[in-house]
Amino acid sequence: MSNNIVWHQHDVDKARRAEAKAQKPCVIWLTGLSGSGKSTIANLLEKRLADAGKHTYLLDGDNIRHGLCGDLGFSDKDRVENIRRISEVSKLFVDAGVIVLTAFISPFKADRAFCRSLLDDGEFIEVFVDTPLEVCESRDPKGLYQKARQGDIKHFTGIDSPYEAPDAAEIHLTYDGEDAAASAEKIFAQLHQNGWI
Ligand code: PPS
Repeated sequence: MSNNIVWHQHDVDKARRAEAKAQKPCVIWLTGLSGSGKSTIANLLEKRLADAGKHTYLLDGDNIRHGLCGDLGFSDKDRVENIRRISEVSKLFVDAGVIVLTAFISPFKADRAFCRSLLDDGEFIEVFVDTPLEVCESRDPKGLYQKARQGDIKHFTGIDSPYEAPDAAEIHLTYDGEDAAASAEKIFAQLHQNGWI
């Protein structure tokens, strides 16, 4: 942190900002391998929340790497920095009263824990999209697994770069052929049940 910097306390806080939408701001953090379905589920969930009149914002890996994180690659160091930036941005959105959805591989436990540590209790909802590597690889929607197997892409998660699965995610979506819409609905139901919406 820089020196000689003072925190300003503002009169309008996140609860006040979220009041009009009858929602509690939080981060719904989807983590899982490439091709696991994170973006598809997040997209459907955001639509479901928007249809219910909620104020949301979806931060998605591929999109964020076009701008905010466009200078980062896929070394461990760059992935740590990627998730650090996303975590700080998520915190700002939560402060704005928004329900944030994130869809990043976010392969390292420590980085997901960092985001959790920035937020108040209960505001970080980790969703493990637990689709096995074989399934992700058979889907291979962008042809990246094939390139990684051929050695054309280095440091590909699940192939030659690690993925640390969550031990106790708030929501664990185990792969059972369930479609993305059912997974999104499951998360929506849990948010409702726990009083976030
Ligand atoms: S991370 O690990 O959280 O920093 O990654 P993320 O920002 O979510 O970006 C993942 C998307 O980038 C594409 N891609 C790769 N993924 C993993 N490893 C390597 N080396 C790689 N190179 C490019 C890939 O399309 C990921 O998108 P998803 O949506 O996860 O499939």
